Amino acid sequence: MSYREAIERRFGDGGPSGQGVADNDFIHRVISRKTVRRYSDAVPADELLDLLVAAALSSSAKSDFQQASILRIEDPDRRAAIGKLFPSMPWIGLSPVLFVFLGDARRLQRVGELRDKPVRNGTLEGFFNASVDAALAMQTMILCAEWLGLGVCPISVIRNEIDKVAAILELPDLVFPVAGLCLGYPHGEGYVSLRLPRRLTTHRDHYDDGALAEAIDDYDRRRNAVHAIPREQQRSNAEFGEAEFYGWSEDKARQAAKAEGAAFPPYLRSHGFSFD
Ligand SMILES: Cc1cc2nc3c(=O)[nH]c(=O)nc-3n(C[C@H](O)[C@H](O)[C@H](O)COP(=O)(O)O)c2cc1C
Repeated sequence: MSYREAIERRFGDGGPSGQGVADNDFIHRVISRKTVRRYSDAVPADELLDLLVAAALSSSAKSDFQQASILRIEDPDRRAAIGKLFPSMPWIGLSPVLFVFLGDARRLQRVGELRDKPVRNGTLEGFFNASVDAALAMQTMILCAEWLGLGVCPISVIRNEIDKVAAILELPDLVFPVAGLCLGYPHGEGYVSLRLPRRLTTHRDHYDDGALAEAIDDYDRRRNAVHAIPREQQRSNAEFGEAEFYGWSEDKARQAAKAEGAAFPPYLRSHGFSFD
C-alpha cells in the first residue's frame, strides 16, 4: 500500500499524502495502527517485555526529572481484582499482559529529601510533568510493541475506580495511574479508525477552527459510511432519545456529557497533590 492509500484510509480527507517521500516501514505501521482488544493465548516472553520496558523508559522526559514508572501486574489475584472492577471491558482481566503507566511525582520529592532541598512536587506543574512523562513512555511502548507485531489497548478507565485500583497496587502518595496497557498477540484483524480531517486538527501560523461545524458533519457522514455505529450502541437513549443519524459527534457529545473520573481529583488531593 502506498503512503497515499494508507493516509487516505486513515483520514479520507484528500489532504497531503506524503508524495515523494521515501517509503518507510515504521511510518507505514504507525499510520495503519489500530487498538487491539482481543488477543491469542500466546504470552509474550519476559525478555521481550523487558525490552519494551527499556524502550518505553528511553522516552524523552521533562527536565530529565524522569517521572514515569511502569508497573506490570503479574500476580493473578491482583490481576483478577482489577479485571473484576471493569466487567464491561473484559480485555482488562483477560489480556496476556497488563502494564500500568504511573505518573510518579514521588521520586523527585524523595530525591529532594535525600539532598535536603525544599522540593514541593505536588503542584500542578509536578502533576502535569509526571503525567506527560508517563504518557510518552506508554506511547513509546505502544509503537514498539505494534512494530513487533503485538497488539495493545491503553486503559484509562482504571482511573474511574482510582481508590480501589490504588489499594490493589499499593500506590503511595504522589504516584497515580495515567493508564493501563493491555498487551498480547492480536486475535483477528481489527480496523483502522478514521481520524478527524486534518484541516480541523492542524493549523499553520495561527489557530483557526472556523470550519468546524461543516467539517464535523462531513466527517460524521464519511465515518458512518465506513463504520456505522449500530442502533443498539447509541448511548443514553433514555436521556437523549434515539437518533435517526448517530455519527461520531453525537456519540462523543453524549459520552462527554456524562462526566467521567469524578473520583480522581479528590483522590489526588488526598494523596499529596495540592495543585498550587
Ligand atoms: C489515554 C487513552 C486511554 C484509553 N482508555 C481506554 C479504555 O479505558 N478502554 C478501552 O477499551 N480503550 C481505551 N483507549 C483506546 C481508545 O479507545 C482508542 O485509541 C480510540 O478509540 C482510537 O482507536 P485506534 O487507537 O484503534 O485508532 C484509550 C486510549 C488512550 C490513548
